[in-house]
Amino acid sequence: MARITASVYTSHVPAIGVAMDLGKTQEPYWQPLFKGYEFSRQWMRDNRPDVVFLVYNDHATAFSLDIIPTFAIGTAAEFKPADEGWGARPVPVVKGHPELASHIAQSVIQQDFDLTIVNKMDVDHGLTVPLSLMCGERDPVKDAWPCPVIPFAVNVVQYPVPSGNRCFQLGQAIRRAVESYDQDLKVHIWGTGGMSHQLQGARAGLINRDWDNAWLDQMIHDPAACAQRPHIDYVREAGSEGIELVMWLIARGAMADTAGGPKPRVAHRFYHVPASNTAVGHAILENT
Ligand code: DHB
Ligand code: FE
Repeated sequence: MARITASVYTSHVPAIGVAMDLGKTQEPYWQPLFKGYEFSRQWMRDNRPDVVFLVYNDHATAFSLDIIPTFAIGTAAEFKPADEGWGARPVPVVKGHPELASHIAQSVIQQDFDLTIVNKMDVDHGLTVPLSLMCGERDPVKDAWPCPVIPFAVNVVQYPVPSGNRCFQLGQAIRRAVESYDQDLKVHIWGTGGMSHQLQGARAGLINRDWDNAWLDQMIHDPAACAQRPHIDYVREAGSEGIELVMWLIARGAMADTAGGPKPRVAHRFYHVPASNTAVGHAILENT
């Protein structure tokens, strides 16, 4: 059977992608940020998954205000990096896993979570920046990502957004779906976005280090309590885009301890300010 062996959490600031694409990672501004991912890149090589289930949000790239799915699963064979206004990032096309994605859609919908099935979709920085951070620079033509990726898009852009608790429960349903797939696959689930940031309005530039780190502690060690936080806490304390953090609770909900298994091992944890206008948080949890 397939198993979720680890979860990864990381911010997805688009400027991080630009820094990699323009070869600026060793500049003084960026060097401390990329140092925090050196461990993670080695860890990815040492713990290479067969599939990454990547929870992210689309930023009005694939979905406009015309159609706003709350939860959307990508079932296509491939997903092209999107043109976000400056051309597509020069990174490889993302290969999907249509068979496992369709199985997860079947299972999760039958567990009463209403997913939108997306058979054609471009993927923006919400998905490609975490891949670049974890896997390193890749030539768009000569290289490929290390494994297939199932994109899972969550609406955290246009209200109403799903609650942390809904996301946490959805993660548990995704774990059950993966474990009912009859091939031996090692699956990682990634939660992306956050941490504190607000990109517009009177509080643009807001960063809240204390809140971010307390939230990260609770997300790791007491996720059920973390899931009870109302969305207004995120917006008030972590800024309007801080709400992206509810996506981390999908990945956390998929870990074994939420179903009576052992607590995960914290393989890595990192926090850095600033990257553009955003606080960057990152963690790796392993099922033991
Ligand atoms: C920015 C955009 C994002 O989507 C995000 O999560 C963080 C930062 C930005 O434009 O700087
Ligand atoms: Fe974002």
